[in-house]
Amino acid sequence: MDLYLRESLSEEPLLLLDECIQEALKVSVPLPHAMNIATVNKNSKPSNRVVLLKSISDKGLVFVTDYRSAKGIDIEENPNVSVTFWWAQTNKQIRVEGDCIKVDTEFSDDYFSTRPRGSQISASVSNQSEEILSYDSLVDEAEKFSSLYTDKAIPRPKRWGGYLLRPKKIEYWQDMPNRLHKRELFIKKAKEWRKTYLSP
Ligand SMILES: Cc1cc2nc3c(=O)[nH]c(=O)nc-3n(C[C@H](O)[C@H](O)[C@H](O)COP(=O)(O)O)c2cc1C
Repeated sequence: MDLYLRESLSEEPLLLLDECIQEALKVSVPLPHAMNIATVNKNSKPSNRVVLLKSISDKGLVFVTDYRSAKGIDIEENPNVSVTFWWAQTNKQIRVEGDCIKVDTEFSDDYFSTRPRGSQISASVSNQSEEILSYDSLVDEAEKFSSLYTDKAIPRPKRWGGYLLRPKKIEYWQDMPNRLHKRELFIKKAKEWRKTYLSP
């Protein structure tokens, strides 16, 4: 099962992240590519939510969202984000810190075109994080939108697309007996990752 795309992956902490996800998948962790992402707005107020990892490479981690959502506005104001993965069955955690940039529109277009039609419709009628009249009004709008595009390809809404999280710091945590947990810290300096160990 292809959870996410993997391209040009050779750097140790990113390989480690991919290995942890593949290992979690083997032991049936649900959505092992789900990650909690924290943003901080211009008033230094943090907020976090879960998104899905869509692709990984040495360049970083890509997820898709609504650029005008609460998180999108936070990222516009402050591109620094922090992500956490935790897999219950393997009891490992990976934290990633870095900044976000928008991916090429080509990637977003290609990815949007591969999404199920229902997801394309929901992305088209949803102004993520904005208040709506009621849930029923959203469903009505989705039905109306669907009937307008019966035999037509649905274009990617301009507000929807991918972000590339460019990691600068990655920490691996592994549960060990007697709480002597293993922590490995990778910090990127001048394109090289420096690895150190942290006390649990
Ligand atoms: C398992 C799971 C996966 C999700 N994946 C995404 C995603 O990939 N992109 C996204 O925009 N929201 C995703 N969401 C919804 C977000 O958690 C969040 O509700 C939404 O993005 C609005 O967040 P915001 O108002 O802070 O911008 C997911 C939620 C869950 C529980």
